[in-house]
Amino acid sequence: MRIAVLSGAGISAESGVPTFRDDKNGLWARFDPYELSSTRGWAEHPERVWAWYLWRHHLVQRVQPNDGHRAVAAWGNHPGVTDVAVITQNVDNLHERAGSAAVHHLHGSLFEFRCDSCGSRYTGPLQDVDEPTLELTPPVCALCAGLIRPSIVWFGEPLPERPWQAAVDAVSIADVLVVVGTSGLVYPAAGLPDIALSRGAVVIEVNPEATPLSGTATVTIRESASTALPTLLERLPVLLGG
Ligand code: APR
Repeated sequence: MRIAVLSGAGISAESGVPTFRDDKNGLWARFDPYELSSTRGWAEHPERVWAWYLWRHHLVQRVQPNDGHRAVAAWGNHPGVTDVAVITQNVDNLHERAGSAAVHHLHGSLFEFRCDSCGSRYTGPLQDVDEPTLELTPPVCALCAGLIRPSIVWFGEPLPERPWQAAVDAVSIADVLVVVGTSGLVYPAAGLPDIALSRGAVVIEVNPEATPLSGTATVTIRESASTALPTLLERLPVLLGG
């Protein structure tokens, strides 16, 4: 059995990584998430956007993968499973730290940085951020003096070609697609379950809340990721009614 997993912010929420949409009480609550995560927001307020991502970069280093991430990583050792491909919209590295090998990041990474002007990779120093700070000046590119930005896919930008193609390939050959912790609102990632369904795959949604996918998924499990994922494969025959 080939398994593909499409994960979103909900799987990391239980590790203590707040989503934009959840972070209602924090320093950033008064900002529209689209402003902090869009090409327009960056152009208008680079110091604010840089401070927000640098805070998340440091925050993610302090948290740990949870039982949901660990369960996905362990599926590769489950009898009868030949392949597990993880496709994530998350920019953290919790799937990797839990032990998943093939992780395709559709929306980039909090751990890669590049020049916004010439595109060259930045590996220089980053400010330490112990407490969230509203504005910080981004570093400057040594080659062209452009501003350094996180290698994150913002609203208004295309997805990187290679992980997107890997995601489409993995979903196209999967027998089972597990969609976990995503609101299913952001395309093109939200279109991946339809590819799996059109190929006859079983699509299992794990989410405590209803989403646009809930009506078409083969099975919907209204539980948190850390509750549902550790026993999911054992429950599969019952869930599929066999
Ligand atoms: N287990 C499973 N699902 C959960 C849990 C949990 N413990 N907690 C919350 N959820 C669900 C919520 O019900 C919601 O449907 O996770 C989903 C999180 O939705 P979003 O915050 O919209 O996150 P996501 O779908 O990953 O967002 C997609 O939008 O913000 C941009 O680029 C960013 O990658 C992100 C994209």
